[in-house]
Amino acid sequence: MKFSPTKIRSCKEWKDVLIKLGDNDLYFRRDYIRATGFPLLPKEVLKTLAVNLKGKNVIDAGCGTGFLSWLLQKQGINVIPVDNNETDHWFKAEAYTDIVKKDAVSCISREHDVVILSWPYYKGSFSLDVCEAMHPGQTMIYQGEAKGNCTGTYEFFDCLAAKFTLNLPFTQELNHNHVQFRGFHDYWEVYEKN
Ligand SMILES: C[S@@+](CC[C@H](N)C(=O)[O-])C[C@H]1O[C@@H](n2cnc3c(N)ncnc32)[C@H](O)[C@@H]1O
Repeated sequence: MKFSPTKIRSCKEWKDVLIKLGDNDLYFRRDYIRATGFPLLPKEVLKTLAVNLKGKNVIDAGCGTGFLSWLLQKQGINVIPVDNNETDHWFKAEAYTDIVKKDAVSCISREHDVVILSWPYYKGSFSLDVCEAMHPGQTMIYQGEAKGNCTGTYEFFDCLAAKFTLNLPFTQELNHNHVQFRGFHDYWEVYEKN
């Protein structure tokens, strides 16, 4: 592969890679996901996450390969990656860190300050169940697409609208340096449960 998917790049470097890939970007996306996970993770985004998550107890619900959790752990963040790994056929990589192989919904407790939910399926009840299992005052960091697209169910987005409040500054800071694959419309949103 011409560009290593696991190399940590700045926002500008990722944009340059995507331009250089041209029409091969979809093949690269497939290989990137298999090797790491769904979101591109520019170093500025990782820094914003690390600064805001310092000293917090975090659970990465449905963590896939654990790539994001591992990158945050390397920056001293206390993240527990959880994935029941029963249904996903995307990932070819070995896990990057020790993953708790359980239903993530049942692992969410009052001990957690933050729940990361990155690219939950648009089918099944997982995304809604995570919302419902969260306690008032807990933060959700959502990474995915908008209602009606590739991630999260309609019920999940309705629950976010009804029971959560958007943390706009944190959301904007993450999206400021976010990079999307061509044709995909994922973004970051940070919410507090009411
Ligand atoms: C589309 S993948 C996203 C993986 C990763 N968060 C990312 O962004 O690359 C969805 C993940 O959710 C996991 N998952 C689905 N339901 C789950 C559950 N109840 N408990 C834990 N993990 C679950 C799947 O095994 C899969 O790895």
